[in-house]
Amino acid sequence: MARLLIVHHTPSPSMQTLLESVLEGARNDEIEGVEVVTRPALGATVPDVLAADAVIVGTTANIGYMAGAVKHFFDTVYYPCLTDTTGLPYALYVHGNNDTTGAVRAVEAIAKGMSWERHRPPVSVIGEVGRDDREACWELGAVCALAALERSGEE
Ligand SMILES: Cc1cc2nc3c(=O)[nH]c(=O)nc-3n(C[C@H](O)[C@H](O)[C@H](O)COP(=O)(O)O)c2cc1C
Repeated sequence: MARLLIVHHTPSPSMQTLLESVLEGARNDEIEGVEVVTRPALGATVPDVLAADAVIVGTTANIGYMAGAVKHFFDTVYYPCLTDTTGLPYALYVHGNNDTTGAVRAVEAIAKGMSWERHRPPVSVIGEVGRDDREACWELGAVCALAALERSGEE
């Protein structure tokens, strides 16, 4: 069974909506053989990451950066996972109320430092969550579930 890990910071209804859309995409009936595991960023562990075949990170933009909880996640897993997760496919969704640039840059920089492979461009949502945003998150979930399937087949 392939495993898709979703590490998320979900402090509000808008973030919950995005997470639910990602989950619906990842768990859609067309994809079989993928276990989808969700972890709040403060509860995600090194074994969670080592067992993952793909990762989705969901964060708010906070003071021009990723959420502190997501930073804590990366601080926790960086060195313990550095040698064993090279090439791990990952994707990002981010929500802010005015500018998500810094948050995207920060996540992409640390993921690059870990030699993870960006599987697709980030879904960045500003302000009220609309239908297009929900669809983009659904698609993000679906393609990352397929990426997990593909990587697990390679191992
Ligand atoms: C301390 C703090 C800092 C924030 N900094 C940013 C920021 O730099 N850029 C931004 O777009 N939104 C910022 N926000 C807004 C959050 O990203 C937003 O509240 C979060 O995505 C959840 O959205 P919601 O409040 O509309 O549900 C900040 C919010 C807080 C509480």
